[in-house]
Amino acid sequence: TVPVLAIDGPSGSGKGTVAKRVAEALGWHLLDSGALYRAVGLLALDRGIPLDDADALAALALRLPISFQPAGEGVSVHLEGRPRDADLRTEDTGAAASAVAAVPAVRDALLARQRDFRQAPGLVADGRDMGTVVFPDAPYKVYLTASAEERAQRRHKQLMEKGVATTLAALLEEIQARDARDMGRSVAPLKAADDALRIDSTGMSIGQVVKAVLDHVVL
Ligand code: CDP
Repeated sequence: TVPVLAIDGPSGSGKGTVAKRVAEALGWHLLDSGALYRAVGLLALDRGIPLDDADALAALALRLPISFQPAGEGVSVHLEGRPRDADLRTEDTGAAASAVAAVPAVRDALLARQRDFRQAPGLVADGRDMGTVVFPDAPYKVYLTASAEERAQRRHKQLMEKGVATTLAALLEEIQARDARDMGRSVAPLKAADDALRIDSTGMSIGQVVKAVLDHVVL
């Protein structure tokens, strides 16, 4: 079977960047599962679907009109054939994603779609429940964390570079609220798989984390 490296962890742990670099180093495919939840959230907002209408959201998730198109060095996420990268990354979309992610029928509807990414020579899957629910048989699992303070600082730095004005205190509060929602929900709560390697990236550089993850994958 095709090997999977599952990388799970909370918002701001650096998972996205690490997963991308590790996938490049291994020459494996990459699944950004958060993008699927963000797509459901964004299209629900676009279409005025209430974020608690389980049937309508599940129908949307089942036929999600998403595609990942190569663009320059990376990929561009298209919805209904149009690039929507900037809209997908907003805080509003993130909040909508987190709401629709708590609907069990949405998670079920996205399962097959996520498993389709498992293609030779291998898959790096980035998310919250990759090692626990979507790919429980993955031979490699990493649970990446960092202190809430450090994650807030990283986010603050990113936003400052983009010229967005916020305070560290507000970001810390947001991160703690998101953690509580992701860990406290009844379906697929964020938690480390029993067989995951735990890496606390507080005080580590991205390069150091990438190396620690690659050391874990024995081919
Ligand atoms: O980048 P950020 O950590 O803000 O979020 P993301 O990875 O893009 O995911 C957005 C939201 O989707 C998260 O807050 C989770 O609630 C949800 N999600 C999930 O439930 N399961 C996944 N496998 C991935 C994301």
